[in-house]
Amino acid sequence: MKQLITFALLLMAIGIQAEKTNISIKTKSTQLVLQVKDDGRLYQTYLGQRLTEDTSLELLNMPRVSGSSSTMTQGSEVYPVMGSEDFYEPAFEIRHADGHPTSILKYVSHTQKDHETSITLRDELYPVTVVLHYVVYPEEDIIKQWSEISHQEKGKVYISRYASSMLYFEAEKYFLTEFSSEWIREMQMKSQELVFGKKIVDSRLGTRSTLFAQPFFEVGLGRPVAEEEGTVLMGTIGWTGNFRFTFEVDHQRQLRVISGINPDASTYLLKKGEVFRTPDFYFTLSQNGAGEGSRRFQRWAINHQLNKGKEDRMTLLNNWENTYFDFDEQKLTALFGEAKDLGVDLFLLDDGWFGNKYPRKDDHAGLGDWQPTRSKLPNGIPYLVRKANETGVAFGIWIEPEMVNPQSELAKKHPDWMIKLPNRETYYFRNQLVLDLANPQVQDFVYGVVDGLMKENPQLKFMKWDCNSPITNIFSPYEKENQGNLYVDYVRGLYRVLQRIHTTYPDLYMMMCSGGGGRSDFEGLKYFTEFWCSDNTDPVSRLYIQWGYSQFMPSKAMCSHVTNWNRQASVKFRLDVDFTCKLGFDIDLANMSEQDKLYCREAIREYNRLKPIIYSPNLYRLVSPYETEHCVLQRVSDDSSHALLFAYDIHPRVTDVQLPVCLRGLDANARYRVREICLMPQQQSWLDCHDKVYTGDYLMKVGLKVTSANPLVSHIVEIVKE
Ligand code: DGJ
Repeated sequence: MKQLITFALLLMAIGIQAEKTNISIKTKSTQLVLQVKDDGRLYQTYLGQRLTEDTSLELLNMPRVSGSSSTMTQGSEVYPVMGSEDFYEPAFEIRHADGHPTSILKYVSHTQKDHETSITLRDELYPVTVVLHYVVYPEEDIIKQWSEISHQEKGKVYISRYASSMLYFEAEKYFLTEFSSEWIREMQMKSQELVFGKKIVDSRLGTRSTLFAQPFFEVGLGRPVAEEEGTVLMGTIGWTGNFRFTFEVDHQRQLRVISGINPDASTYLLKKGEVFRTPDFYFTLSQNGAGEGSRRFQRWAINHQLNKGKEDRMTLLNNWENTYFDFDEQKLTALFGEAKDLGVDLFLLDDGWFGNKYPRKDDHAGLGDWQPTRSKLPNGIPYLVRKANETGVAFGIWIEPEMVNPQSELAKKHPDWMIKLPNRETYYFRNQLVLDLANPQVQDFVYGVVDGLMKENPQLKFMKWDCNSPITNIFSPYEKENQGNLYVDYVRGLYRVLQRIHTTYPDLYMMMCSGGGGRSDFEGLKYFTEFWCSDNTDPVSRLYIQWGYSQFMPSKAMCSHVTNWNRQASVKFRLDVDFTCKLGFDIDLANMSEQDKLYCREAIREYNRLKPIIYSPNLYRLVSPYETEHCVLQRVSDDSSHALLFAYDIHPRVTDVQLPVCLRGLDANARYRVREICLMPQQQSWLDCHDKVYTGDYLMKVGLKVTSANPLVSHIVEIVKE
């Protein structure tokens, strides 16, 4: 009898064990395992390299139980709520209609179909539901996550934290690389060890949201982030607004990474039945350094995220740094000829073409009044588009439709459309204010700016959408008593407008620009085909800025223009830096030497020929400008038959030893011809390797000498399988 009871108890135990729900989310090389524990709540039990089989998932219990007391939770709850017994930074915080301040979210069900997993959690006491979503991109090794929050309560429910994702890691040490920014110093990589406590990387600028911090991070697990070795978590959030990443190392030395909208000043009044969808958080876990992570992100962006990711890009001539606001019809039409002569695809007319009562002769007036200034452009935009097309170049135009100068007809007509405190002195950033995109009437107006231009000029091929001001004087006449909703509703309003444009004008190419690189996120790039990395076009600074963006961004999305910044650098050096990205020019060609013009024309021809390699996601960052006085990059075709090497000497000392640079990603057994291209007219290559044949093995083990002790020298080297 006793034996029978023991057997029955054993069966029950096995039964309970078998009932444990494990949810496994896998890419080609990464696996995330979640488990419903006996308390009915959902915990992360594993995040790491993909396991070869799933049979022992219930044995996983990472991370360790936090705290010594048995009353503590497992310490790895997937969506922990403020006010429960996990005392670290929570993912979620709610105030119910009755004023109660927490929810305990229990597992209800989950579905897994194709590459998508959805897990429903619910509070047993209150009608509050959170659905966690995961989409995997197995080939690119990227996981996308977001959450959906809703309730059925009568009365006012506020959510004041609403993460997209919370992940846990266990390693000996953690090293964060963040990407700090400011105007003309975008995407500067800075690393630090994460020790006990919290580190926050966030934005609270509203619009122009990445002015000070970019929405990307890398965490080296166990060791600092390296280029081709070590485990690195790389993450980013798709939100063109306030974001926040929180990195918290707890008492158990476990790292918690929370990603989402920055909830500061954004306690959101959530209506009954409304679904609050958080932005998408994307991450990859590379076992081979940041280099592999970058290649994954670039491939994923091209295949799945970037607007027209797989399509071509247009080279262009922009007039901003050439003319600033000082232009007229005659000057512009002359520039069309220069663009054609140079060999670019498109002419881009920048700021300063609009406003009549308050003409846009500088940045003090006109924003909001999107009619061409008659004194400058008596025949309007259609004439310019026609003339450009007749000359043989496409036409593109600059707009900043979210903004308004108080000196404008729009501001006088619709004072209630501006984000502006009613009872305080107004602070103006670049003499302008932000229009209230939470307001559907304003959304219609902003859409109308694009729609009006497109209806009048169906031949328009390109728009540069600028956004020069953060949200200042935060107050929305439209939101009334729900001011906490404004930062979030603004971005949603913006997406509504962008989606409408995208649906109506799917062929339009658009550059996301924000006073340089003040906007650079992957949700924005669903609608934009490219973005402006920085107003800093000094080629030396650009090497660092582009090195930073290349951690996540594909080259075809990164606009890089030849200008007159840093005249110490030759036009060749300047262009060679831009050659690695989406090439453009913003320079007075009339005053450029014939030699330089010849070089530019030749380089554009080569650029067009080599676009498939330049735009390939297979980037190898071989020599870092952060660590040396050089910068060397390599791009390789998918089949390893064709590669490009870009080498730049910045400010080396004559005594520096020049070592060969080992290439990567080639076929060891193949033979490759190495040839320097893009030489100045009549210039001979002085690289030893020029026009020689090497095996891939040699190139990857011995390498090529492509650096020198001379300042501001550059080489572009083509490597073709024989
Ligand atoms: C800021 C942009 O970054 C520049 O390229 C230029 O378009 C100006 N705005 C125009 O005001």
